[in-house]
Amino acid sequence: MKGRCKICGREAFIKLHYPRMYLCREHFIEYFERKVQRTIDRYHLLKRDDWVLVAVSGGKDSAVTAWVLNRLGYNVECLHIDLGIGDYSKRSREYAERQCRELGLKLHVLDVRKLVGHGIGEVRTRRPVCSYCGLTKRYLMNKFAYDNGFDVIATGHNLDDEASFIFSSLMNWNVQYLAKQGPKLEGKGKMVGKVKPLYELTEREIALYAVASGIDYLVDECPHSRGAVTLRYKAVLNGMEEERPGTKLNFVKGYLRNRELFERKLEEMELRECRVCGMPSSGEVCSFCRFWGLEKPLDLRVRTRVEEGERGEKEIG
Ligand code: AMP
Ligand code: FES
Ligand code: ZN
Ligand code: ZN
Repeated sequence: MKGRCKICGREAFIKLHYPRMYLCREHFIEYFERKVQRTIDRYHLLKRDDWVLVAVSGGKDSAVTAWVLNRLGYNVECLHIDLGIGDYSKRSREYAERQCRELGLKLHVLDVRKLVGHGIGEVRTRRPVCSYCGLTKRYLMNKFAYDNGFDVIATGHNLDDEASFIFSSLMNWNVQYLAKQGPKLEGKGKMVGKVKPLYELTEREIALYAVASGIDYLVDECPHSRGAVTLRYKAVLNGMEEERPGTKLNFVKGYLRNRELFERKLEEMELRECRVCGMPSSGEVCSFCRFWGLEKPLDLRVRTRVEEGERGEKEIG
């Protein structure tokens, strides 16, 4: 790379497109971490004393999320969900374990096959694999965080994910999705809040940060990936971004300014408690317990923080 760092004049490590500038490795790391902190502050994602559960998949986005939150001084523990998808899950788990070991972060692992008897992709159902995989991940993340008194869950979603999700939801006029996207989903009752600290960072910046910091991550795609359509949307947005840097960020910020248009269209769905597990549900039995045919709730308590006497206000049975 020919350019020189805008701050110190040393040889550049990266050329950023938006804002347009060259940075050396050290100043890029500083820039990136400052940007994450700014995102956290701007959208009020975390409080200083929150116990944060980072959901780590083994991929770059969630690894970088855990890494940066730890560097910024937040209280972080990690959760990996072993989905039981053959070699892919085995490798994902190994990467998540290595990432957390290197960071000295506590990692909890939930094994779907052990918990509900089958891995993802081993169930005979008309429902698409990605769909019940998603519901299983969301349920287990939330139940684990709730059972163990975490204040908030952080995921690795980035600007490209958000922009393409909003784009595809608009193309399909999926108003229900459009009413509730954003960097923060407030917690309510037994639903633990969820935040996306990499909301304003692009996939490219995150991959470069991982390289700059020596974070090793899994590149493989899930064999059930429904990624083709998403990748098309990402490619279209990337094409526009190349012509007009800042397009993705402006698109997402414009959405946030106008989200209430969609919220108004969505009646507040009344949530009750699942008859089996007691977690929030729109029907009598929640979609997780229904799908997996559970007759009694999963108990995911590991009690670490109870033993350490650090538990906050939440009671466990
Ligand atoms: P995805 O839906 O695969 O794009 O993943 C979005 C986010 O969900 C990731 O950035 C992670 O924070 C989290 N996540 C995905 N898969 C797993 C997993 N197997 N275990 C824990 N967290 C996950
Ligand atoms: Fe869920 Fe692939 S990761 S189906
Ligand atoms: Zn520099
Ligand atoms: Zn349930």
